[in-house]
Amino acid sequence: MVTRTAVEATSGTREPTMHPHTTIGPRGLPTSLVIGPLRIAPPLILAPMEGVTDLPFRRLIRSIGGTGLTCTEFIPGAGLARGDDRWVKMAELDPDEHPVSIQIYGREPAVMAEAARAVQDLGADIVDINMGCPSRKVCAHSGGSALMREPARVAAIVAACRAAVDVPLTVKMRSGFDHDHRNAPELAAICESEGADAITIHWRTRADGYGGRRAVDRIAAAVDRVDIPVIGNGDVVDIASAVAMFRDTGCDGVMIGRGALADPWVFRTVSTWLSGGEPQPAPWHERAAILRRYLALCMAHFAEPRAGRRKRHDPARVSLGRFKQLARYLLADTGETRQSILRSRTIDEALAVLSAWEARQAPAAAEIGASPG
Ligand SMILES: Cc1cc2nc3c(=O)[nH]c(=O)nc-3n(C[C@H](O)[C@H](O)[C@H](O)COP(=O)(O)O)c2cc1C
Repeated sequence: MVTRTAVEATSGTREPTMHPHTTIGPRGLPTSLVIGPLRIAPPLILAPMEGVTDLPFRRLIRSIGGTGLTCTEFIPGAGLARGDDRWVKMAELDPDEHPVSIQIYGREPAVMAEAARAVQDLGADIVDINMGCPSRKVCAHSGGSALMREPARVAAIVAACRAAVDVPLTVKMRSGFDHDHRNAPELAAICESEGADAITIHWRTRADGYGGRRAVDRIAAAVDRVDIPVIGNGDVVDIASAVAMFRDTGCDGVMIGRGALADPWVFRTVSTWLSGGEPQPAPWHERAAILRRYLALCMAHFAEPRAGRRKRHDPARVSLGRFKQLARYLLADTGETRQSILRSRTIDEALAVLSAWEARQAPAAAEIGASPG
């Protein structure tokens, strides 16, 4: 568990940016930020994650609370522009899921503009453009983080999308393509001048993949460079790391990805702290219940018949995959239990392992706030 002392020890030296529409709360840190006409409160955002942040996962996180904004996984702009069922379904939103952004990727300004229009028509509050994805599949077509090497194209894409929609437009990028080209602040300025309403920066470069040593200086430089809100991203997992991101960069909001898989309560914990409260420790004893709730959400979602689904789509198989993905992070400290769940071939097998583990935890569960490991 994060203690007050640990939080204070991480404090950097930067003042909050005090963007005109960023509200500073009792901890001297933002409690909300404004993106275009939208107030995002708390300023904590669920990161887009391919194969993770679909409707069931977003429903799970929303049901726990503490996020100001959720985001879909990335969706190919070309697929949305063509109106392909598969991608339109991936962009499906819940009626009460607001504010929410839909993320698109691609490199053709006219196609991205068409996709942005589709996103607006689908009811998204924000169109988010992906310029940070390191995947070979996306970069091979010069989308995602490969765009960071083409500032003129970045400008053209943002300008085309801006002209196509009225809803706010945001751009998510890494700090640069590699360590010799950490140009996020320059690109953020280009995006701002072409009409973007906020920028998210993951501190890693594309070359870092998911490794590298924490270096948030490009986020701080972007905060100094642009007047629109900047959202800091990368390795925020608890109060201390969220506070460090705010304090070390002066950013207006924080985006959390893998931390939400490892601790689905992280948004609630951090938002309570930001608003001056003393958060309860994460209820680790509820982990089995969270996994079961997520499985039920997945089964209900993936069992719905949908146009555009591949022929071999099997709801139980897909749901088991999602269940294992959450278990991989959420049960990271459980050793053989985690391994057995990851090896399970059926949902029943995985649930039996989970229940046996839960039964062994029962005495510890009485001790509210028992931390993992
Ligand atoms: C499984 C996975 C899928 C991801 N998919 C996307 C994506 O679709 N779009 C995107 O912009 N970033 C994607 N990312 C990157 C995250 O949004 C985020 O920038 C990165 O994980 C760093 O944040 P974190 O340390 O809080 O996880 C993905 C990351 C992971 C782990």
